[in-house]
Amino acid sequence: MSTPTISTHRPSLPDGAMVLPPTLQLQALLTIIRDEKTQRTSDRIIRLLVEEGLNHLPVVPKTVKTPVGADYEGVSFQGRICGVSIMRAGLRDCCRSATEQPPYLQILIQRDEETVQPKLFYAKLPDDISERYVLLLDPMLATGGSCMKAIEVLLSHGVKEERIIFLNLIAAPEGIHNVCSKFPKLRLITAWVDQGLDNHSYIIPGLGDFGDRYFL
Ligand code: URA
Repeated sequence: MSTPTISTHRPSLPDGAMVLPPTLQLQALLTIIRDEKTQRTSDRIIRLLVEEGLNHLPVVPKTVKTPVGADYEGVSFQGRICGVSIMRAGLRDCCRSATEQPPYLQILIQRDEETVQPKLFYAKLPDDISERYVLLLDPMLATGGSCMKAIEVLLSHGVKEERIIFLNLIAAPEGIHNVCSKFPKLRLITAWVDQGLDNHSYIIPGLGDFGDRYFL
């Protein structure tokens, strides 16, 4: 068997979208969560996504004095941040670990059985969200319906599109295209881009239904 190497997987992406570097660590973590025989959380990949998301926040110069009395000319984050996770079937618990530094917030979006469209059931957002940068987290980006609904909710609360950073574990090219063409100013960061969708809008190879597999 040949020695695994870092993947050359480099999908072409629209402006505003990026994929994490396909390191062997990331591939190993994705292999664990995709395996039908495992039921492990994806916290570590979400952490990698959050760390990358933080790289895209603006900073201002800041000089501090170090314990040896020297000046260090560094930077500090310019604005306040909040993490918002899109909950479906109990998704909340997984995302909590990555975004629990206050404020950790939730939007519940589920499919309306009558219209078959994503519908907002619940949103717990801070009063000052319009002044914040928002890390919006949804593990699976299939057609992009739930993600786009959540973005509309944020925009309706006054969040600026360019202040939204969407974090995602596994994306279908269709979802990336739909989200980035509707919201060209937001930044989309995914851990991996898969082949596409099946007839039931499941991501292939994907990992099945995220809520079913991780939140029984
Ligand atoms: N949501 C999931 O949980 N899995 C998919 O494959 C697509 C959407």
